[in-house]
Amino acid sequence: MSDLLDLPSYLDRPPAVAARLAELAARPLVMSIEDLSREYASDGGNSVLALSGIHFEIRHREFISVIGPSGCGKSTLIRILAGLDAPTSGRVRLDGHDVVGPGADRGMVFQSYTLFPWLSVKKNVMFGLKMRGLPTREAERRALEWLELVGLGDYAELYPAQLSGGMKQRVAIARALANEPRILLMDEPFGALDAQTRAAMQAHLLRICDTVDVTVLFITHDLDEAVYLSDRIVVLGANPGRVLEIIEVPVARPRTPEQFLSAHFLATKKRLEELIHRRETVPRHDAGTIRAA
Ligand SMILES: Nc1ncnc2c1ncn2[C@@H]1O[C@H](COP(=O)(O)OP(=O)(O)OP(=O)(O)O)[C@@H](O)[C@H]1O
Ligand SMILES: [Mg+2]
Repeated sequence: MSDLLDLPSYLDRPPAVAARLAELAARPLVMSIEDLSREYASDGGNSVLALSGIHFEIRHREFISVIGPSGCGKSTLIRILAGLDAPTSGRVRLDGHDVVGPGADRGMVFQSYTLFPWLSVKKNVMFGLKMRGLPTREAERRALEWLELVGLGDYAELYPAQLSGGMKQRVAIARALANEPRILLMDEPFGALDAQTRAAMQAHLLRICDTVDVTVLFITHDLDEAVYLSDRIVVLGANPGRVLEIIEVPVARPRTPEQFLSAHFLATKKRLEELIHRRETVPRHDAGTIRAA
């Protein structure tokens, strides 16, 4: 008798999820990524096609993840969306306007900690607000509000070196959100954290997305994380970096850790495994002997 779980298709969705996905699809467009390609010249004269024909749209308050093997162009894509790099062809539009450079309308959170070490937690969050010309008192009030939201209200006067990795990322999220961006761009923000802190950060982020009017594009390597957080998952393949499939996640909201073992969750994860790992059938260990060369 087979020991495998009898899972539904990842395309099968409960009525409440189908209704939510239909409602999402009808929301106003925030960002459109239109036939984007990025080629890098290399030393030997050959070029690397990091991205090819990337095309998708992001709707208001959608949580969309991008997943794919190392080197498939995830960071290249997010850098282009942030305006830190330019595509070779294609375009990116935010609220209908072409993205031509960085702007306060996009908040960035990277894997590596990017806080200013010489500024207190509070001043890190105030930084963008002051740059936008807010008076110090107002910037301070707002910074403290955002720090409360990420659960760091009591840590405002500390310096980044005095914080754990998870706390630093919460400050980075508060700092990005304080500018009230139209979209939050996150490149493996929890990649450097241990499993337990990472789970806590996922819960934080879900709660933030419930409370704050923000749209999120989230890059991850982690299949569970992608399914747990997202409305849709853009699956990229490598060489050239291209969209293999855009999966609508058939898991109900609000999300809870118990759902990691739900049939729809596992069915989605199985589909991601098929697309990303594309495992060759691994020979059984007793299928042959290894010969010395
Ligand atoms: N500045 C650059 N110059 C030349 N090639 C680059 C440059 N940046 C990225 N590449 C190449 O583009 C491809 C995509 O790189 P990218 O960093 O976007 O991948 P990634 O999906 O983010 O990988 P990882 O999961 O390891 O972070 C790789 O082949 C990489 O070598
Ligand atoms: Mg990367």
